[in-house]
Amino acid sequence: MFDSGLGGLSVFREVARVRPDAHFIYAADDAAFPYGALSDAALVARVREVMHTLIAATRPDLVVIACNTASTLALPALRTDHAVPFVGTVPAVKPACAGSVTKHVSVLATPGTVRRDYTASLVREFAGGCAVTLVASERLASLAEALMHGARVDDAELAAELAPCFVATATGRTDTIVLACTHYPLILERLQRVAPWPVSFVDPAPAIARRVSSLIGPTAFASSPKPVRLISTGQPLDARLVSSVLARHVREPEVMAPPLAVAS
Ligand code: DGL
Repeated sequence: MFDSGLGGLSVFREVARVRPDAHFIYAADDAAFPYGALSDAALVARVREVMHTLIAATRPDLVVIACNTASTLALPALRTDHAVPFVGTVPAVKPACAGSVTKHVSVLATPGTVRRDYTASLVREFAGGCAVTLVASERLASLAEALMHGARVDDAELAAELAPCFVATATGRTDTIVLACTHYPLILERLQRVAPWPVSFVDPAPAIARRVSSLIGPTAFASSPKPVRLISTGQPLDARLVSSVLARHVREPEVMAPPLAVAS
């Protein structure tokens, strides 16, 4: 399970819930966080480099890129580099548009995900008559990281990031928001609290968990879940925090050595 930071835990907690028998590694490229601020070329180079090192060190059967910003850009390169199957995380435009009653849907994501051709093609293919508003948030992934680490973040700061998602026109107003960055479901309750009106927030994690589970194959008998291995590229991950989100035991956090330089 791979992300730039803690966001991938929103996907991982669903996968861990449906597959208590699997052995997991959670890897965060926190030295390069936030991915949403990197240029496309720097991000592809970075993800390829980190993934080379991680795959060589851990030999996984399957990799989940639990990051929209990386998945919408780097999956083709990763699939060329490695034979191992990759499961990505991309904006859930299709189910969101299919479920919208007012036909006004917003996609909230990092600036990187919003400007991708891949995201535009999802909207072209799956909008199904909905007006889709793409909203790039510069700060929300970092605010989610801060909240997870126990920092105080005012409602006003969260509301400002969320506000452009709420569109009201003569034909109706937004009723569905796609959480197209894996950090956002981790702070869902705060987002619901500052929403100007009630909407459905779409989190793709349960669908990704089903896909991962079907690729892993039938559930094996397991007496108790194995502790999760934690790897990061900058600071050691907060084992207690990760363990509480996943409801799983974790191992002593490891920092990938030597630390990988971040390209600008
Ligand atoms: N969690 C990542 C995503 O799903 C983004 C956070 C970042 O900008 O690094 O897009």
